[in-house]
Amino acid sequence: MSIPHPDTPLPSEITPETTYLNRRQFIQATLSTAIIANTLSTATWAKGIDPHSVGSLPTTQPLSPTSTSLLSTDEAPTPLEKVVNFSNFYEFGTDKTDPVNYAHSLKVDPWQVNVVGAVAKPGVLGIEDILRLFPLEERIYRLRCVEGWSMVIPWLGISLAQFLKRFQPTSQAKFVQFLTLLDPQQMPGQRRPILNWPYQEGLRIDEAMHPLTLLSLGLYGRTLPKENGAPLRLVVPWKYGFKSIKSIVTIRLMEKQPLTSWEEVASSEYGFYANVNPEVPHPRWSQARERRIGEFAKRDTLLFNGYAEQVASLYHGMDLRKYY
Ligand code: MTE
Repeated sequence: MSIPHPDTPLPSEITPETTYLNRRQFIQATLSTAIIANTLSTATWAKGIDPHSVGSLPTTQPLSPTSTSLLSTDEAPTPLEKVVNFSNFYEFGTDKTDPVNYAHSLKVDPWQVNVVGAVAKPGVLGIEDILRLFPLEERIYRLRCVEGWSMVIPWLGISLAQFLKRFQPTSQAKFVQFLTLLDPQQMPGQRRPILNWPYQEGLRIDEAMHPLTLLSLGLYGRTLPKENGAPLRLVVPWKYGFKSIKSIVTIRLMEKQPLTSWEEVASSEYGFYANVNPEVPHPRWSQARERRIGEFAKRDTLLFNGYAEQVASLYHGMDLRKYY
């Protein structure tokens, strides 16, 4: 990944502390009410939260979750404008602001996702089908990037496990590969050989089937903005952000471990597992601390991004320095 320096805050990212603290208290109070209620008729973000506290709401379509997951963090969400203006989506350029400036050329409707490979019932689903077939949850997750920054985002999505089960994975299904759309007309970054396009990612089947793993269709109570991976992306909260592949068109269940885009270009820096691990430094910088976007002081990075209780057993007995 071409990274200037992971820890230098941009002036626009520094929120005055008083503003931040007021916002945080307000959001936390609102969120705990929403989480206790557990069943929401409309999205928390469209209803319960002062839009000014997260910037304006996305300009995409409203999307209503049936519940807010108890797997959600109660940490303060990152203001929306920071999220949309600070995105890695190399199909639209390598600067953090390129996606918000150039992703308008992406056509997200109609969109289909193909599920192929080691499944008894391969098939294709459109976004409307997915929204009709699976319960949509709001899940407020931390996202930690390998570059040293982190965010908290209220995602809307469905359980990847429930989605995959519909296609009946066979006993050969040991891994899951995900592919982004390949279309240099719509994705100008694909005209340059930065990565071997299309962007690809992979999970072990037990990681894919884990209850935390989310196939996201929205954030902040609305469908995903194009710059954040519309109309469908992966969110794996205990892994570095690059595992969370955007604008997915193909999901392939496989017997062999798939190659991932970042492994292909720099395997010594970006491994297949990519579990957030403060004890295993990136070859060029430490992973021990992180800067939450919108905050000034750095905080300690937590093993598995704070989700150790839920996911550590998946890696029992593995040398996490070797399988980084
Ligand atoms: N997916 C695609 N298709 N293309 C990309 O360039 N970048 C990855 C990941 N998914 C990327 C992608 C990286 S490096 C990160 S850190 C996360 O998206 C960032 O997600 P965010 O933009 O929602 O913060």
